[in-house]
Amino acid sequence: MIKKGIILSGGMGTRMSPLTKAVNKQLLPIYDKPLIFYPLSILMLSNIKDILIIVNKGQLNQYKKILPNGKNFGIKITYLEQSSPRGLPDAFIIGEKFINGENVALILGDNFFYGQNLTSQLQKNTKLNKGAKIILHRVRKPENYGVAKLNNKKKVIAIKEKPKKFVSDLAVTGLYFFDKNVVNYAKKLKPSKRGELEIVDLINLYKKKGHLSADLIGRGGAWLDTGSIEDFYKTSAFVSAIENRQGFKIACLEEIALNSKWIKKNNILDAIKFYGNCEYSNYLKKLL
Ligand code: DAU
Repeated sequence: MIKKGIILSGGMGTRMSPLTKAVNKQLLPIYDKPLIFYPLSILMLSNIKDILIIVNKGQLNQYKKILPNGKNFGIKITYLEQSSPRGLPDAFIIGEKFINGENVALILGDNFFYGQNLTSQLQKNTKLNKGAKIILHRVRKPENYGVAKLNNKKKVIAIKEKPKKFVSDLAVTGLYFFDKNVVNYAKKLKPSKRGELEIVDLINLYKKKGHLSADLIGRGGAWLDTGSIEDFYKTSAFVSAIENRQGFKIACLEEIALNSKWIKKNNILDAIKFYGNCEYSNYLKKLL
């Protein structure tokens, strides 16, 4: 069972400068809310209530202004800082004390997921007791991602980071489920040629032991990228189209918490006060 989750939300956001000079990338807007709301909503929908957010050194105050401690969502948020972007597996080294020998999920702060049955798929994956599970999604440009090749029994037979030569069009998304061995495995890793600890090297350690499985988000689901300014606009347009068509918000954290019975209606009133007179508050009013 996985009850803890980490959002890796640091990085320099250099590709999005000057927008990221004063504000961390994950606090920039995807349509009507900060990007970080979306991965946080994914952990909450997975029934994970104990969450560590790893942020860039010096940017903690920015995050605390919008996500103080999680009490308002009936969850617990802990913060830790990363001194420099040493690579994704660094999350488990920084988070060792938080993980405390338990299983843990990791989501990258810039990953966006949406789709029917996603919640049940997520909750199925948090049942993991042993090994590692990766979530795959077919993409047109696999060379931009970690990719996994499956055999006809859906077993992972190869994992590569941003391969120049075609290996597979199944991208490894930025959502991972690991058992308690993850901290020890992360500590064994050596930086790659680009000077970072690589998540695919970590996953390969599980693969070598025969402890790796994969789940697929099919074509009815969306996994979108927010790596560049163009991606921010495209993902924002996606959220706007769905929200304005249906009248439901994607990643309204108070709504998820209320539906899960983690908070009460008076917490929603507090949230409305906190956000002030805005469209997000108007949506919260409708929940009452
Ligand atoms: O989005 C999925 C992809 O994420 C995977 O397919 C790749 O296997 C994986 O390596 C990763 O690739 P990216 O090139 O997208 O990783 P990037 O360096 O852009 O980092 C992703 C997020 O994690 C970003 O929001 C910044 C944050 N980050 C990254 C590093 C390396 C940190 O907070 N700390 C870090 O040390």
